[in-house]
Amino acid sequence: MTPDLTWSDAPPGEVLDPVSIWIVRAPAGQRLPPDGTPPDWLDENERRRLASIPQPAGRETYAFAHWALRSVLGSSLGCSPAGVGFLRQPCPGCGGAHGRPAIRDPDPAGEAPEFSMSHSGDLVAIAVAEATIGIDIESWPTPESVAGYLPFLHPREQQWLGGRPDDELVRDFARLWTRKEAMAKATGQGMAAVMNRLDLTGQPLGWRVRQLLAPPGYEASFAVPASVHVEVTVYEDLPQPMPEPEPVRA
Ligand SMILES: CC(C)(COP(=O)(O)OP(=O)(O)OC[C@H]1O[C@@H](n2cnc3c(N)ncnc32)[C@H](O)[C@@H]1OP(=O)(O)O)[C@@H](O)C(=O)NCCC(=O)NCCS
Repeated sequence: MTPDLTWSDAPPGEVLDPVSIWIVRAPAGQRLPPDGTPPDWLDENERRRLASIPQPAGRETYAFAHWALRSVLGSSLGCSPAGVGFLRQPCPGCGGAHGRPAIRDPDPAGEAPEFSMSHSGDLVAIAVAEATIGIDIESWPTPESVAGYLPFLHPREQQWLGGRPDDELVRDFARLWTRKEAMAKATGQGMAAVMNRLDLTGQPLGWRVRQLLAPPGYEASFAVPASVHVEVTVYEDLPQPMPEPEPVRA
């Protein structure tokens, strides 16, 4: 795996926290068997979730994103993609089982890495770090869809976005939205906790939100605790490509 970009935001002499980011495009064509059989490297929860997605394109995206996550984490943990086990931490808002995803049964000798994942269109973004992290990637929305979301943002964010021409509006809205979702995932609380309660035109208290270079028409951001000085390495290729679907037996 050759890194495509490395950068740091640390002042000289600071301890650096390594952050690995993958921004990966799903290969063209069908990646799931046409008969709907789920790949055997998905766990029971993932298979249930896959089966609940109505659109074939959504199922393809979901499967690729989960392969990408398993491939990256398997490579970091020294196991196969199928061997990575997941759990959900309790939601910090209500205690329900829909908080940050985490690794189940990590190697007792080592700390399990923190991670976060996002999918949008045919792109998947994954962040792996020692520190708590949240990542989000979004394609630029239409001006009509921005108009629909605008009233739900923090009043200062609405003001910040106001009066821009459409091309700047969709880009800056997508940037702001990825900052919000990155925070929603870093804290594990989900979007409701950040929608109109948190002004993300600046840095939120206790957190550092950073923008990533994303392919044209997309924006991406990640969030880490403010105490963390990151050294970011960005990759465009997965450790292992997604396996071809098994041919359907007659
Ligand atoms: C979590 C959330 C921000 C994800 O955003 P999204 O636009 O749906 O989708 P993305 O592709 O960017 O990210 C999805 C990934 O985020 C991760 N994720 C889901 N919930 C998460 C949480 N609470 N914290 C951190 N990461 C989370 C998962 O890896 C998920 O992947 P999967 O859906 O394929 O399993 C959004 O779905 C949300 O706010 N959900 C509400 C959570 C909730 O129920 N809160 C109730 C509070 S009481």
